[in-house]
Amino acid sequence: MIQLSHRPRRNRKSAAIRALVEETKVTTDDLIFPIFLLDGKNQKVEVASMPGIFRLSTDLVLKEVEECLNLGIRAFDIFPVVEESLKDKMATKSYDSSFFYLRALREVKKQFPEACIMTDVAMDPYSSDGHDGLVEDGHILNDETLEILGKMALAQAETGIDILGPSDMMDGRVGYLREVLDSNGFTDVSIMSYTAKYASGFYNPFRDALDSAPKFGDKKTYQMNPANSREAMIEAALDTEEGADFLMVKPALAYLDIIKLLKDNSDLPIAAYNVSGEYSMVKAAAQKGWLEGERVAKEMLLSMKRAGADIILTYFAKEFAQAVKRQ
Ligand code: PBG
Repeated sequence: MIQLSHRPRRNRKSAAIRALVEETKVTTDDLIFPIFLLDGKNQKVEVASMPGIFRLSTDLVLKEVEECLNLGIRAFDIFPVVEESLKDKMATKSYDSSFFYLRALREVKKQFPEACIMTDVAMDPYSSDGHDGLVEDGHILNDETLEILGKMALAQAETGIDILGPSDMMDGRVGYLREVLDSNGFTDVSIMSYTAKYASGFYNPFRDALDSAPKFGDKKTYQMNPANSREAMIEAALDTEEGADFLMVKPALAYLDIIKLLKDNSDLPIAAYNVSGEYSMVKAAAQKGWLEGERVAKEMLLSMKRAGADIILTYFAKEFAQAVKRQ
């Protein structure tokens, strides 16, 4: 008989014991479901590179939100799909209160005041250049962009939404937006800063969904270099000082170390954005029968929570909630 003083397998011997010693849990309470909003009525268009994810018109978004609320998903991040002819250099539609995005936000908050609605603050969906900032002579201008973001944030805050998500990575935007919000009486509107947003190849399906790919160049002068982690600490310190309510890391899967780094060094809630490309690769492999989609999606979400994410923005949110319900 072999004498072993330690047998860790004892804590894995039954489902009941495994459940007792389980360290991390993902629940619907942790998830934010991103939604792509289309203008018009009764429109439902699947995103080709994101099977199972649709661009929906406002009436269908309302149904989707209701269904998700019934499944226990209570937070949504809504992105507008803007027709090319309505885009311009200054992203003027982004702060036109009669624009369909802002009208839809008002409608969603009116019908579902209990839902937590997050919005995107960045120029790219509305910009004819497809960049997150104002372009001049091929350069992305920082401070001039902030003024546009300020108008956009205010127009979004006026719809009654709960959380603003500045996703543009301009310097000083959290402080600037906080100031604009506060001086206009929106002290209760939260800011979830895209703190460490990397210049990543994992965003392409999202850009398909929104038709928002940059018309020239790339986003490397504002989004972070995937090789860097200490730089995330600089961004986190600034966002914290400037008044962010949450810090986000994006993408999530290839940046679990950054999630952990911020978690260990900040007392603010940490969000992870499980981005479009992370969703698409699971779906593509599952369609080929190479992976079990639901299983690996769950495993990915678990890894993000285990790394320290308090919140996960994920296209898997609804499916996850449906799976929980089935069990
Ligand atoms: C743009 C924005 C992007 C995403 C959210 N907001 C793309 C980008 O920076 O080009 C990506 C989300 C995803 O890939 O799921 N402000």
